[in-house]
Amino acid sequence: MTELHTERLILRRWRESDLGPWAAMNADPQVREHLGDLLTREQSDVSVQRYEAGFDRRGYGWWALEVRATGEFIGFAGLDDTDDDMPFKGVEIGWRLARPAWGRGYATEAARAGLAYGFDTLELPEILAVTTAANVRSQAVMRRIGMTRNPADDFDDPYAPEGPLRPSVLYRIRGGGRR
Ligand SMILES: CC(C)(COP(=O)(O)OP(=O)(O)OC[C@H]1O[C@@H](n2cnc3c(N)ncnc32)[C@H](O)[C@@H]1OP(=O)(O)O)[C@@H](O)C(=O)NCCC(=O)NCCS
Repeated sequence: MTELHTERLILRRWRESDLGPWAAMNADPQVREHLGDLLTREQSDVSVQRYEAGFDRRGYGWWALEVRATGEFIGFAGLDDTDDDMPFKGVEIGWRLARPAWGRGYATEAARAGLAYGFDTLELPEILAVTTAANVRSQAVMRRIGMTRNPADDFDDPYAPEGPLRPSVLYRIRGGGRR
């Protein structure tokens, strides 16, 4: 079972006890500001079934994030295959934290573990990251872990509704460029 450990965090498979706090995050307008509609409890639960099926199939995905010192579930971070209709193809890195866990460096710490896994274990040549143009906090994480954006890669997310969630940016990092 793939589990990654950092100084303060564990990236692990999902547990039944994560479902409540996960649903609460997905019903929080601040967490969902750049992601789209709020999720119902059922939609939130189904998302975890999808993540877990991904781990069973290929060994990586959106790991549940736990704070080592307290055992608290605070969100997810990890790697996923890019969606089929995106104008690029590869493995992307991503993160989503509960509001009280922002501003502590947890996303960056988890992301570095995800990059290391992607490059050292999966031997990926490159890792991508995608977010809306307006999601500056997420882009700051991308830059902190050494990813770079070429404006020529900017695109409209085909999965997003017309409006502010559409304009999107793509960040990239190659195996040698890690910090
Ligand atoms: C995107 C998201 C994960 C970023 O979280 P974050 O907490 O801002 O990012 P980091 O974990 O890198 O934390 C960095 C901040 O922690 C601070 N920090 C505090 N203690 C720290 C420590 N020990 N180490 C590093 N940074 C620390 C940094 O100074 C920085 O603060 P700043 O934002 O005031 O500059 C979070 O905003 C989120 O979950 N958003 C909703 C979901 C979402 O949009 N996901 C991305 C979709 S693409």
